[in-house]
Amino acid sequence: MHMTLRQLTLFKAVAQHLSFTRAAAELCLTQPAVSIQIKQLEGHMGMSLFEQIGKRIFLTDAGRELYGACEDIFARIDALEISLNELQGSIKGQLKLSVVTTAAYFTPHLFKAFLQQYPQVHLNLNVTNRTSILERLANNEDDLVIMGQVPERLHVTAHQFLENPLVVLAPPQHPLVEQSNIPLKRLAQETILFREVGSGTRLAIERCFATQDLELQTNMELGSSDAIKQGVMAGLGISVLSQHTVTLELATGALKLLDVENFPLKRYWYVAHLTEKKLSLVARTFLDFLLTNSQNVIQDVYQLLNDGGQGLSELSK
Ligand code: PGA
Repeated sequence: MHMTLRQLTLFKAVAQHLSFTRAAAELCLTQPAVSIQIKQLEGHMGMSLFEQIGKRIFLTDAGRELYGACEDIFARIDALEISLNELQGSIKGQLKLSVVTTAAYFTPHLFKAFLQQYPQVHLNLNVTNRTSILERLANNEDDLVIMGQVPERLHVTAHQFLENPLVVLAPPQHPLVEQSNIPLKRLAQETILFREVGSGTRLAIERCFATQDLELQTNMELGSSDAIKQGVMAGLGISVLSQHTVTLELATGALKLLDVENFPLKRYWYVAHLTEKKLSLVARTFLDFLLTNSQNVIQDVYQLLNDGGQGLSELSK
């Protein structure tokens, strides 16, 4: 039976008033609109729901059965609404989150979307690099952590929730900008700006070059993604960063992507906690939210960032 909740709502109103006109008025619809829906419902059921005798209408046996079922269905929906409201109301308090520096570029957007559903949650966000996240994790200092690579030594439960492509960046006038499929060997001849030791991004780059036994000069070390972006724009060298950190710079053309073999490096973001940790209700709800919504929320945010002016003002609404 392909009946819809909308049709059942209309049917219930007609059955209560035993009048199409009064049901239509109650639901702010025209009387023919209600009649059409009831006819369709009767079509789905293969039976008449009302019979007309003189000017009055009555429920048929099938109509009475359906009316009884409607009362159950709508009572269940009301109860569901109440328990969901209660649940939302009880999800409040602090969420202690530590994220690697690169994840700080998207975590506030995810939290904003979360807050729209659970306005009584407060965020305590700690931003640091991979090495100190591992320490915090081992000391059980946070509800959840977000990182680019799951630690092997700790007993951790981790869920992959978002893509994290690493891309090669250059200033717009760099000669390699025009080239395609640049060999990794050629890239190794360039000055590469590195994040500090302990950064997950740096570790991923070193591993990538090590697969081809390529030596890298690591004498240009800038301690944050922001400093690296400015360094690349200033012409100090090229670099590799998570694409999440350069959405605005790519949209404005301040930085360009280089087409290098093996890039973008395919990585993912993980949300993790010690396996034995008992998560609070807030933490469990945020974790579920990340697993279900991150991809869509971030896609929408980046779309707005790419749109520039109008998009940016939409973002903060
Ligand atoms: P980082 O970590 O910000 O410490 O470089 C990012 C990652 O692990 O991908």
